[in-house]
Amino acid sequence: MLLLHNIGLLATCRADGGQGEINGIRDAAMVWDEGRILWTGPESELPANHATAERRDARGRLVIPGLVDCHTHLAFAGWRADEFARRIAGESYLHIARSGGGILSTVRATRDAAEDALMSRAAGFLEQMTALGVTTVECKSGYGLDRETELRLLGVYRALARRGPARIVATYLGAHVVPPEYRDRRRAYVELVLSLIPEIAAAGLARCCDVFVEEAAFSTDEAHEVLSTAMAAGLLAKLHADQLSDGGGAALAAAIGAISADHLEHASAAGIAAMAAAGTVAVSLPLATLYLAQRPMPARAFIEADVPVAVATDFNPGSAPSWHLPLALTLACTLQRMTPAEALKGATLYAARALGLDQRIGSLEPGKAADFAVIDAPDVNHWLYHFRPNACVRTVIGGRTVWRAA
Ligand code: NIG
Ligand code: FE
Repeated sequence: MLLLHNIGLLATCRADGGQGEINGIRDAAMVWDEGRILWTGPESELPANHATAERRDARGRLVIPGLVDCHTHLAFAGWRADEFARRIAGESYLHIARSGGGILSTVRATRDAAEDALMSRAAGFLEQMTALGVTTVECKSGYGLDRETELRLLGVYRALARRGPARIVATYLGAHVVPPEYRDRRRAYVELVLSLIPEIAAAGLARCCDVFVEEAAFSTDEAHEVLSTAMAAGLLAKLHADQLSDGGGAALAAAIGAISADHLEHASAAGIAAMAAAGTVAVSLPLATLYLAQRPMPARAFIEADVPVAVATDFNPGSAPSWHLPLALTLACTLQRMTPAEALKGATLYAARALGLDQRIGSLEPGKAADFAVIDAPDVNHWLYHFRPNACVRTVIGGRTVWRAA
């Protein structure tokens, strides 16, 4: 049994009170055993039976639930720095994509990469994410777009999950874009995606299935077909929705019972209302908004409609080439006008909800996993306001310290 005491502020991020309520406890302590939280509360109220636990001193710092990055494209080969420069010079993301760059250029590189190379690179990213206080990472396929490479990417995620310490949630994104060899046969490609779903679900290779709904990618009808098939096979449905235009993705997510709709820079009022009624999580990706110089997703409208807003990195080599979740949180504040408390809840409990895992992780309360980060700041406002390369001094997953600042 372990006890963390002298916690300046314990941001429990329990559900009650909604987006802006982190249910903080001042001068707190937390007790855990065998990877699970047993008790949290003011240190002055520590029960006598926990007083003998082995002690760790938080030195008056902020303690938060382990951060959950609920939207990444973690495994890929190559980078696309040339496209970054082309976009700055005025070329659009879509124009670059239509000329064979964009996602397809990463697909070419990824098809050529061995599983070992993809694995060690993704593991390196994960290690750096863990040092920032990130304890769970959702990872999408979608840079293979053929049977062999999609299964290779999901195999990398399975190996990373087994190896730990970060918790990994894999998502099948076969419907990312239509690969070049199917350019004139898109129906045949949709059928390939459909045919892989039962196989992936039966092998336990993915928990979720995602579709990029966009003019240059897949239609709402195609997404409906792919995601209904995925849900029938027991996968949770997600969508890349309304990123570059209002394509009806938010409304579709609500109509089919998707667990989340992600991006949403162009979500309509009707889409927001539909998501509110259905309980769909809105995943905001402010790094992608920033890199593509888009208008921000209307976080205030979602929050006012009582839609939970998660915040994630979207880490990928094109639209969001950074795995820095605390940076995404600071951007959620400045671009999307979320308060630091709202942003924190969005990267903990609501991010866990976007993965269907909010009964197990995402908040610090008895019965949940002892996944947390000790942050060198007096409170949440200060942490996200004073942006630093890394403010996290200790990361704990399942009760075990996996990273400590020197
Ligand atoms: O989430 N929108 C589609 N997929 C990614 C971009 C991937 C890429 O540019 O490689 C996204 O932004
Ligand atoms: Fe994405």
